Amino acid sequence: MVRKDMSIFVTGGAGFIGSQFIRDRVAQNPDELVINFDALTYAGNLENLESVANLPNYRLVKGDICDEQAVLAAMPDDCGAVVNFAAESHVDRSILSAKEFVKTNVLGTQTLLNIARHKRVGRFLHISTDEVGGSMEPNQWFTEDMPLNPSSPYAASKTAAEHMVRAAAHTFGMDVLITRTSNNYGPYQFPEKLLPLAISNAMQGKPIPVYGDGLQERDWIHVADNTRALMLVLSKGRPGETYHIGGKNPLRNLDVLKVLLQITGQPESLLTHVTDRLGHDRRYAVDCSKTHRELGWQPEISFEEGLRSTIAWYQDHAEWVERAKSGEYKTYYERMYSGR
Ligand code: NAD
Ligand code: DAU
Repeated sequence: MVRKDMSIFVTGGAGFIGSQFIRDRVAQNPDELVINFDALTYAGNLENLESVANLPNYRLVKGDICDEQAVLAAMPDDCGAVVNFAAESHVDRSILSAKEFVKTNVLGTQTLLNIARHKRVGRFLHISTDEVGGSMEPNQWFTEDMPLNPSSPYAASKTAAEHMVRAAAHTFGMDVLITRTSNNYGPYQFPEKLLPLAISNAMQGKPIPVYGDGLQERDWIHVADNTRALMLVLSKGRPGETYHIGGKNPLRNLDVLKVLLQITGQPESLLTHVTDRLGHDRRYAVDCSKTHRELGWQPEISFEEGLRSTIAWYQDHAEWVERAKSGEYKTYYERMYSGR
């Protein structure tokens, strides 16, 4: 039986990581009501939540985290936790135009903090990124206590949001937690990000754009390993703390793409070097030993195993990819929810 007094308010739950979190959470906590508050921007895809859409402990509210009245109406008093995934998340888009990033990532986070305090929410878990630390030197690892040094407009907006979260803890005594995750991959990722884009292009024998020399390093983590860590942070994290979540395995983009082509049986000639991303960070590498030490978490899915299962998922869900690329997924809300 779902208890209304046990609820969790998740923002951005129709996106890639948020939808994995909600699918896991709804399955693991049948008594808890999971409210998914999502503006359904281009990155929000309700097809990602088809498996939970009709369950009694899941509810969707379409709304913008910058809209105070909408958040006030949707967030229950005394709810157990707010988990803030909602964000503009794509670096390339932030280079084209940063305005939406400042609005959602900074103002939206502050709006949530104000209302969570007013509603006496239990905990506030804010999802941040390893990009706030900026580019690491070879062999350098980003730890929780290092100074922040963001490079892209996206990373700068995520850094500003973190500061607002810490300020709310310091000033008002709110119970906040911050996680910084490295590059996630897995099913249901919007095909603008490197791995889903490369998999879908490889499946169609199309060129795969490699920015610059392709020697940039990213620390890949399977999204299910990430959400397992998030559950632990939420239940056992110490108030006010930041926890890093990474794959412990930074890899060069070109090396990742070569393995991907090997698995899909496509030639390396598909790799096409294109103009580099402006201000492209060279290396991200998060040290997640604190999360291991305090919460007993470490990644369990090896990159090769995770990449194989992810490629198999995209091969089995070619229609999902097509609808994501064509924009057809945007009419899903109207099709499923009209008349409700
Ligand atoms: P995503 O782009 O797939 O999804 C973002 C979701 O937020 C979408 O459902 C979108 O509709 C929603 N949203 C956007 N603006 C909103 C607004 N104003 N109000 C309400 N909802 C809004 O993002 P993702 O890759 O799932 O990332 C989730 C979070 O994790 C983000 O905060 C991102 O910065 C962070 N993060 C992502 C990664 C990664 O590798 N994907 C790594 C580290 C951190
Ligand atoms: O590190 C965590 C971050 O990872 C998250 O905070 C962001 O939300 C998420 O988008 C991701 O950012 P990146 O910029 O690292 O991800 P992206 O998939 O866009 O790019 C991964 C790497 O691949 C990066 O070095 C740029 C390169 N790239 C990307 C694309 C889309 C290419 O070479 N070709 C491409 O077409």
